[in-house]
Amino acid sequence: MIFHSKNIKSKNNEAETKFITYFEDSKLEDLNLSLDNELLSKIKFTLDSEGFKCKNGELQNINLFRNESPKNIILIGIGKKEDFNLDKLRKNIAKAVKEAASLKSKSIDINIGNLVSLMNLDEITRTISESAVMAEYKFDKYKSDKKAKILEQFTIIYNLEDELESIDKGINEGIILGQANLLARELVNEPANILSPIELAQQAKKAGDESGFEVEIFDEASIKALNMQAFLEVAKASANPPRLIVMRYNGNPIKKDEIVGLVGKGLTYDTGGLSIKTTAGMVTMKSDMGGAAAVIGAMTAITKLKAKVNVVAVVASCENMISGNSYRPGDIIGSMGGKTIEVLNTDAEGRLTLVDAVNYIIEKEHATKVVDIATLTGAVISALGTTTTGVVSNNDFFYSRLEQASKICDEKVWRLPAFDEYKELIKSDVADLKNIGGPKAGTITAGLFIGEFVGENPWLHLDIAGTSWSEKDSGYESKGATGEGARLLYHLIKQLEK
Ligand code: BES
Ligand code: ZN
Ligand code: ZN
Repeated sequence: MIFHSKNIKSKNNEAETKFITYFEDSKLEDLNLSLDNELLSKIKFTLDSEGFKCKNGELQNINLFRNESPKNIILIGIGKKEDFNLDKLRKNIAKAVKEAASLKSKSIDINIGNLVSLMNLDEITRTISESAVMAEYKFDKYKSDKKAKILEQFTIIYNLEDELESIDKGINEGIILGQANLLARELVNEPANILSPIELAQQAKKAGDESGFEVEIFDEASIKALNMQAFLEVAKASANPPRLIVMRYNGNPIKKDEIVGLVGKGLTYDTGGLSIKTTAGMVTMKSDMGGAAAVIGAMTAITKLKAKVNVVAVVASCENMISGNSYRPGDIIGSMGGKTIEVLNTDAEGRLTLVDAVNYIIEKEHATKVVDIATLTGAVISALGTTTTGVVSNNDFFYSRLEQASKICDEKVWRLPAFDEYKELIKSDVADLKNIGGPKAGTITAGLFIGEFVGENPWLHLDIAGTSWSEKDSGYESKGATGEGARLLYHLIKQLEK
């Protein structure tokens, strides 16, 4: 789909489908849509007769039964003006785009005249284009009868010439963020028989080449040379060798000592190891690299949109499998940072890979702030469901930046307590730490386990086990991977520009 912006005065290229956003208190005369009288009276008729109340989420298609464009108008209810926010716009546009696609429409336009007084122009156009990009996605690459994409053009109509710059800036940002989210979804949806650690590393390299960040890939021998003992323990039962993926982007050479480190969990499959999962628990475990997908997606947007921040992203990618060479419950293992770990459950593997990645990003890449993002615990789903990402942090200011980023993209976050008492739960009698904290506060103890390796650096831990996967299509989300984290991490990095 190609996006355009167009001044209301230019009459050429009418789209087949016209979107009109409608508030409960909107008056057609006030919308300044520059439509001819025939269309205006059709809309008026529909508003009077069809019981369209402009409630948030309501859609009304008006078929004009003619060959010239517009062929139909979709009225999009967005509720009361005072309750308006960007996420309502995002969800409603997605719904309308899906409706237009089901009507086999090739082109859409929307006049944003009645939205401009409510939000910044670039926010509005970013949200619309991001939503339209995300709404189109479906994971159908392995289906023989996949449907061709029908929508070709999306035009945003504006009223004043001096609005053009902000409008185009927003459109560009929205497309890139939408694509970053879809890249993350595509990586997560790819099954584990295709997406091995080697293939994930290649996909990261491809993303880096296309968007302009540097990618370095470490093979098993180099990982051994780095002494990443905990990571290697998890990886060693698999026939697919591990890879350490390092991505670098220097957006602020003046402050070259300030580096934000992003660490994504990259388990391309998690059987649970000898603490084996049930089939029902295992069947979606191709998604256990959702954190890796989020950081790769975020890096594409950070680079393409030239964020003024230095960012390094690291993924310690492997498979948690079973063989004669598996690590076992009861083993005591080392780690790159030197701490010893008693393994009490081989299914709590993510944290073992993450601590070495965190250690690497601080010691070797000199990250001064660390964010880790991981499909880490089932417990976060019990606590927060699939709506909200659970967060553990050691720094109020850093968390406040994440909250700000979360408001912009509506990827919801909630901070969990991290009192010292919880740290007692991961102390081992026979080693420095144990890899599970028992049945209580599982998300917090998993987070704090990683926190043991961040030192004094400001740190955010994002548990996306609930939010990275969706059981159904809804709004701009599709069944399967949600791409959670790609847009959120981009906006977090943007917050750190200031
Ligand atoms: N990858 C899982 C967490 C997960 C569960 C992600 C459900 C997505 C959906 C992780 O490696 C895991 O198995 N965690 C265990 C930890 C436990 C053994 C302490 C869990 O949550 O059960
Ligand atoms: Zn596991
Ligand atoms: Zn896992």
